[in-house]
Amino acid sequence: MEPVLGNIGPILPEEGYLEGVRRLTEDHGVLLIFDEVITGFRLSLGGAQAFYGVVPDMTTLGKVIGGGFPIGVVGGRRDLLETVAPRGGVYQAGTFNGSPVSLAAGMATLDVLEGERVLERLNAVGDGLRAALSDIVEDLGLGYSVVGIASIFKIFFGDLPKNYVEALRCDKAGYFAFFRRMLQAGVFLPPSQFETNFLSAAHTEDVINETLEAYKLNLRS
Ligand SMILES: Cc1ncc(COP(=O)(O)O)c(C=O)c1O
Repeated sequence: MEPVLGNIGPILPEEGYLEGVRRLTEDHGVLLIFDEVITGFRLSLGGAQAFYGVVPDMTTLGKVIGGGFPIGVVGGRRDLLETVAPRGGVYQAGTFNGSPVSLAAGMATLDVLEGERVLERLNAVGDGLRAALSDIVEDLGLGYSVVGIASIFKIFFGDLPKNYVEALRCDKAGYFAFFRRMLQAGVFLPPSQFETNFLSAAHTEDVINETLEAYKLNLRS
């Protein structure tokens, strides 16, 4: 599971939800695997599991950990990973496994994220952006919902969804028309109601302000 749903939203876990899943999986002897491809090194340097304090048995990572280079990482409990060759009997191989270039790029990225406290800054920008978007939505009286966490944000064209089924009730066509207006205005958003927006360290205050202006103009049309 994704601890924060990125591929339908974002949708945040309700209070106690991740703890409940952890408890249930333990009770039933089921492995809990967090897909942190989106949340890893974004919610915090320790990912969503550090942010929410819920530790899975295994974790998958991608994106940020490659510093722009292609990479995927699987981590987890020692006893599980030791089932993989050469320690264990599960053979896993690939041309780019342990690729030194991707790993060097990833290590360099993580050094910068840690050394320059990038996430603290980025998350504060995210808080400010969501607050400003909420004000815009409220002023326009549209009944839309601003959601997100850390440097992740989105406007749902409808009530705040708490799960996949509720997310599907949003006004997809309305969002797509808005996407096209924003594109005309020079702001390239994801073309789907169900794709998440991300802030990056390259988004300056000017870019943020310009984006907010475009939201204000184009949400209402
Ligand atoms: C949550 C999530 N998991 C897994 C993947 C797949 O990652 P990759 O394209 O590196 O295989 C993606 C891709 O966007 C993703 O968003």
